[in-house]
Amino acid sequence: MEKFIVQGGLPLEGRIRVQGAKNAALPMMAAALLADDGPLVLRNVPRLRDIDSMGAILEALGVSVARRGDRLIMEIVDETPFTASYELVSMMRASFCVLGPLLGRRRRAKVSLPGGCVIGVRPVDLHLKGLRALGAEVSVENGYVVAEAPRLRGHQIFLGGPFGSTVTGTANVLMAAVRAKGTTIIDYAACEPEVQDLCVLLNKMGAKISGIGSPRLVIEGVESMHGTEHTVLPDRIEAGTFIAAGAVCGGDLTVDPVRPDHLGAVLETLKQIGVDLHVGANSVRVRGKRRYGAADLTTLPYPGFPTDLQAQIMTVLTLSDGISVIQEKIYPDRFMHVAELCRLGANIRKEGSSAIVLGVAGLHGAQVMASDLRASAALLVAGLAAEGATEIRRVYHIDRGYDRVEERLNAVGARVERVVDQKVRMMEDAA
Ligand code: EPZ
Repeated sequence: MEKFIVQGGLPLEGRIRVQGAKNAALPMMAAALLADDGPLVLRNVPRLRDIDSMGAILEALGVSVARRGDRLIMEIVDETPFTASYELVSMMRASFCVLGPLLGRRRRAKVSLPGGCVIGVRPVDLHLKGLRALGAEVSVENGYVVAEAPRLRGHQIFLGGPFGSTVTGTANVLMAAVRAKGTTIIDYAACEPEVQDLCVLLNKMGAKISGIGSPRLVIEGVESMHGTEHTVLPDRIEAGTFIAAGAVCGGDLTVDPVRPDHLGAVLETLKQIGVDLHVGANSVRVRGKRRYGAADLTTLPYPGFPTDLQAQIMTVLTLSDGISVIQEKIYPDRFMHVAELCRLGANIRKEGSSAIVLGVAGLHGAQVMASDLRASAALLVAGLAAEGATEIRRVYHIDRGYDRVEERLNAVGARVERVVDQKVRMMEDAA
C-alpha cells in the first residue's frame, strides 16, 4: 500500500506535460474488436493501470496487445471468444465498452455487469436500450449481460437519460451501429471530446459516422472495417487538474499539450474568479496567486462543466474570498472529497446534490484518505496548496488516471514523495 507525503506551499514553475486521455484511449482500445484485418495502432496512450486492465480484457477476447513506448498495437488473433468475465470487468467499469463492438462484429456477447461504484449508482440501462433498438436480444443472467443479434439493423435511438447523455453508452451503441445494416441515428449522443475522437478513429477504420461533436450522430452501417493508426487526444481532465494546482500554488506553470477549446467551461470559471491564465493554441499558462474570488458552478454533460474536474476546482474555491455553490448534476453523490478537504481546513457544507464552499484564508497539512480517482486528485491539489505536510493514503486511486504524477509535479517544483507504508496496509486490512 502506497501513500503520498506532500510538502505544501511551494510554487510550481516551468512546463508540465499532459498525457493522452485515458477516457478516450479505453473505448478506442475496445474498437480493436471491430477490425476485420490489420492492426489498430494507438499512439499517445498513457501508462495506467486502467489501460492494462483493458488490455487484459482484450487479450481474453482474442486480441493481441503489445506496447512499444507510447504506442499500443492491437490485432485480433482469435475471433471465437465473446465473454468478458466478472473478474476482469469489475476491475474497471469502462471495460463494459467491449459489449457494443463484440455484438457488432461477433454477433454475440456476454459481458459482466460492472457493479457498484463509489461515485454513484451508474446504471447501464441506456446502453442496453440502444442495443435492443438495433435489434439485439438482450437479457441479464446471473450478473451478465447476454446479447445476441444475427444481424443488427439501423434504427433511430434516443439515448438521453435522467442525467442527460451517456459517454460510454454512446460509445457502446456507436460501436455496434457501425456494423449494423442500414442507417442509425443516435439522438442525445454524448458530445464529449473523447466521444468525438472515438468517432474520428472509427471513420479511419472504415466506418461512416457524421454529425461528430453534435448530439445527433448519423451512422451508415458498413460491411467491413480495418486497422489504422491514430493519436489519442490530450487528457483535458489531467490538464485541468494541473491548471488547478498551478492556481493554488503560486508560481508560473505552463500546462501542455492542451486543447483549450475542450476546457471552455473550466477556463471560464477560473478566469471569473481571477486566476491569471494565458491561453495559447496548445497550452495554458497559469500564474497562481493562491487566493481568489468565489464562483457558482454546475456540472453538466459537455460542453458544460465536467464532473471529473468538480473536486479539483472545488479545492481552488476553498481558497476564495466568498461563498461558492457547486451543484453536481451528473453524479449527485460525488462528494467524497468534501470531508477530507475539511480535514485540511476547508469549510464546506454538503446539501443534497450541492456543496456550499465558504472560502478560507489557507489550508493546512493533515492525514487524508483518497476514495476515488478525481477525489484523490483534489486532495493532491489541496496538499500542494496547504502549509505543512499532507499524507494522502490509498494513492492507487490516483494512479488509475495520472501516470507517475508525483515525478511530473516534482519536476516543476513540488515535493511529493511516494512512500510504501506497511503500517497503513495492516490498519486498512483490519478495518
Ligand atoms: C464517463 O463515465 C467517464 N468514464 C467518467 O469518468 C465520467 O465521470 C462520466 O463519463 C461523465 O462525464 C469513462 O469515460 C471511462 P455516463 P460513464 O454514462 O460513461 C447516467 C473518471 O473519473 N446513466 O456518461 O460511465 C449516469 O448514472 C470517470 O475518469 C444512466 O442513467 O458515465 C450518470 O448520472 C469517472 N444510464 C450520467 O448518466 C445509463 O445507462 C452520465 O454517465 C448510463 C448512464
